[in-house]
Amino acid sequence: MSLTTSSSDYPAQTANKAVYNFGSGPGMMPPTVLKQAQAEMLDWNGTGISVWEMPFTGQDFQAIADQARQDLRELLNIPDHYRILFMQGGASAQFSLVPLNLLLSNPKTGADPKADYIETGYWSRKAIIEGSRYCQINIAASGRSSDFIEIPSVADWRLNTQASYCHITSNETANGLQYSELPNTGHVPLVVDMTSDFLSRPIDFQGIGLLYAGAQKNIGPAGLCIVIVREDLIREPLSSTPSAFSYQVIEQNNGRFNTPLTYGIYLAGLVLKYFKAQGGLSEIQSLNKKKSNLLYEVIDNNPFYHCAVSPAYRSQMNPCFTLVDAELTDRFVAQAGTRGLINLKGHSAKGGIRASLYNAMPLSGVLALADFMAEFAEGCCS
Ligand SMILES: Cc1ncc(COP(=O)(O)O)c(C=O)c1O
Repeated sequence: MSLTTSSSDYPAQTANKAVYNFGSGPGMMPPTVLKQAQAEMLDWNGTGISVWEMPFTGQDFQAIADQARQDLRELLNIPDHYRILFMQGGASAQFSLVPLNLLLSNPKTGADPKADYIETGYWSRKAIIEGSRYCQINIAASGRSSDFIEIPSVADWRLNTQASYCHITSNETANGLQYSELPNTGHVPLVVDMTSDFLSRPIDFQGIGLLYAGAQKNIGPAGLCIVIVREDLIREPLSSTPSAFSYQVIEQNNGRFNTPLTYGIYLAGLVLKYFKAQGGLSEIQSLNKKKSNLLYEVIDNNPFYHCAVSPAYRSQMNPCFTLVDAELTDRFVAQAGTRGLINLKGHSAKGGIRASLYNAMPLSGVLALADFMAEFAEGCCS
């Protein structure tokens, strides 16, 4: 099945024009899902109430949450020995919760816990700053010297064999670079912040200790964070960890230690079902490749635009580029907006343009952007 969706799905319509949302997150959601949520808002499945109002301990909500977990497991082919936790606090909370839950002192020497981090840009930096509040951090590799246009080669990483885990950011949303494959860190569990490329491609779980993803890019509403963790890593957290944020407590209580983000889990469940109906992650991945290749080709073939990231590391989710004259950036964003191509402004720390191409962005949106870019460049150069 193809992801080139039907004309009733796309583009989203306002009262008078088509809208393609290139925002980096919260990102564009499949219109089919939004319509389904709208239709079910007041009366879910003949219960006479909204999912919003449902008791989280009741059978109906449990069925919704279990189905979402099951669909996620199928989509990502998650092995049985991994647990799926629906947490709150977004991805940033995990910058603290990963160390609080995973750090271990060396059992032989009692030495202080340590963790490896790979620095590849804005978000990995944030994870490092937060993680360093809890343990001794080893930045095993950094792309800083090249201004984060490349990911340091795994062969050059200086990993610490005593580390409790090695943390990476699989897709740097602000810088527009992405690991084409997840690295192998040997017996040190790999922890991946997958917030901005989760469900954009299949994953091999070999070597993964834990992955987490804020939902607001590809799955659902902000605030929900999906954590997938290998069961042997679920253990007693550091004593200062709030119970509601202990992986162990959440898992032991089957996600019901306190009220979960019920409506967010329901919406994520609708998106997961939609992705399954689209043919799964291999189909999604090939469309994502097609969309980003198309955009990078437009950038590379027009001297008016420039992408600094080396081709091998370019993000399929968040292509970032600049205009030959930075002064024209605001005009580009404003004029694109009048065409319904919205939220193209680059991250505040980076400037330039960022066109986020999450799963819900159809090929027609990228084609519309490509047409606009050609016209804008021509208009400025003539
Ligand atoms: C890669 C990455 N990690 C973490 C975050 C932070 O997510 P949240 O706002 O849910 O805390 C973001 C947000 O854009 C992100 O792109």
